[in-house]
Amino acid sequence: MTDWTKSSWRTKPRVQMPDYRDAAALQAVETRLAKYPPLVFAGEARRLKAELGNVARGDGFLLQGGDCAESFAEFSADTIRDTFKVMLQMAMVLTYGAKLPVVKVGRMAGQFAKPRSAPYEKIGDLELPSYRGDIINDISPTAEAREPDPEKMLRAYTQAAASLNLLRAFSTGGYADVQQVHGWTLGFTETDEAEAYRAMAERISETLDFMRAAGVTGETAYALRTVDFYVSHESLLLEYEEALTRVDSTTGQVVAGSGHMLWIGDRTRQPDGAHVEFARGVINPIGLKCGPSTTEEDLKVLIDKLNPENEAGRLTLIARFGAGEVEKHLPRLINVVREMGAEVVWSCDPMHGNTIKAASGYKTRPFDRVLKEVQEFFAVHRAEGTHPGGVHFEMTGKDVTECTGGVKAVSDENLSDRYHTACDPRLNATQALELAFLVAEELAGGDKPLAEKVANG
Ligand code: PEP
Ligand code: CO
Repeated sequence: MTDWTKSSWRTKPRVQMPDYRDAAALQAVETRLAKYPPLVFAGEARRLKAELGNVARGDGFLLQGGDCAESFAEFSADTIRDTFKVMLQMAMVLTYGAKLPVVKVGRMAGQFAKPRSAPYEKIGDLELPSYRGDIINDISPTAEAREPDPEKMLRAYTQAAASLNLLRAFSTGGYADVQQVHGWTLGFTETDEAEAYRAMAERISETLDFMRAAGVTGETAYALRTVDFYVSHESLLLEYEEALTRVDSTTGQVVAGSGHMLWIGDRTRQPDGAHVEFARGVINPIGLKCGPSTTEEDLKVLIDKLNPENEAGRLTLIARFGAGEVEKHLPRLINVVREMGAEVVWSCDPMHGNTIKAASGYKTRPFDRVLKEVQEFFAVHRAEGTHPGGVHFEMTGKDVTECTGGVKAVSDENLSDRYHTACDPRLNATQALELAFLVAEELAGGDKPLAEKVANG
């Protein structure tokens, strides 16, 4: 790529990025970050791309999930462990349903910068610059706290490095033990769905018992003891991304060192804008959010720009239309992909098109709407004969009350109990696992409930 450099985004129109007041302070931070070690390596990004290539070809499923926004305040080993654990549980359920390998990618270790719908927000009588994520400014409601501070990039880098270190340890150090399946449904109350989930958990457990009896255990099988876990975030704050970009010494390829996979948000996907310009030159797998306003013309240009070699696994299209809107938008975009002969992974983000304001004033997402969008996504792919390649959730391993509904029904009135997100409402551990069972059901065919299939063998 001769006309691209890691800085060429600077010549393009940018949106959703802060205006740092102190240019010298910004420059100093960029200089420091540019000397720090990258957080991920080119070989890892290439391996993830190869795995996503299999997904694009229909031989795999992508599970991407984590916080809407990671925060400095919520940073702890427990938080990371709990999200990692739920993702492994979900992956196990999905593997069982899909009979396909599940590629696990966290919205973790770098998911700090947030696009906002408005540059200012009203808090009481105060009108303040919007909170843009802990890597940019502080959520406290004062004008001073909301001033963008470049030093926060260094703290975000440190937190990302420590998070990734723990995730790497969990992935290989014996934590990824799949024998715990029995306990997963303990929190579920007595409902028909919960019964179905227990039946599936029982089957998974029996399979593992059989394998153990046959001598396949964590001690003997490396694959059971370890897991490939990748990290991703929205590449929004381009000064940070540029500063962590490196040239791979073995291949000469340019890799974004901030995370394995980067995605471009629904608000920053302008074909001639800065964010697309940055992403097109790095070799990492790239996600592209597609919303109701994504036109066929734009998608065509974006696919050409982001994946000119039509490499399977390079590009994941993350559909986020909202329940009731999928049938209107997804087929027209699938058509573009089909006409171009483009290799893509189709993933479903059922979160960002389904955010509403509860009567209490809390931003929430009804579980039913999240599920409905997932089901519509699968139905369209079934009708089009294309592979529903993955799901993208905002979720946490903690027992928060941010999305309403689910088997342990969270009501509008419960939202205030444990509403901890720094940005959008997340599925809690139980809701996330329940959704995994429902997605597994879709993957297994969707024609009859998986529980029935399980019962009938
Ligand atoms: C997000 O993923 O947190 C997000 C802001 O999504 P979108 O760009 O799709 O609105
Ligand atoms: Co979000």
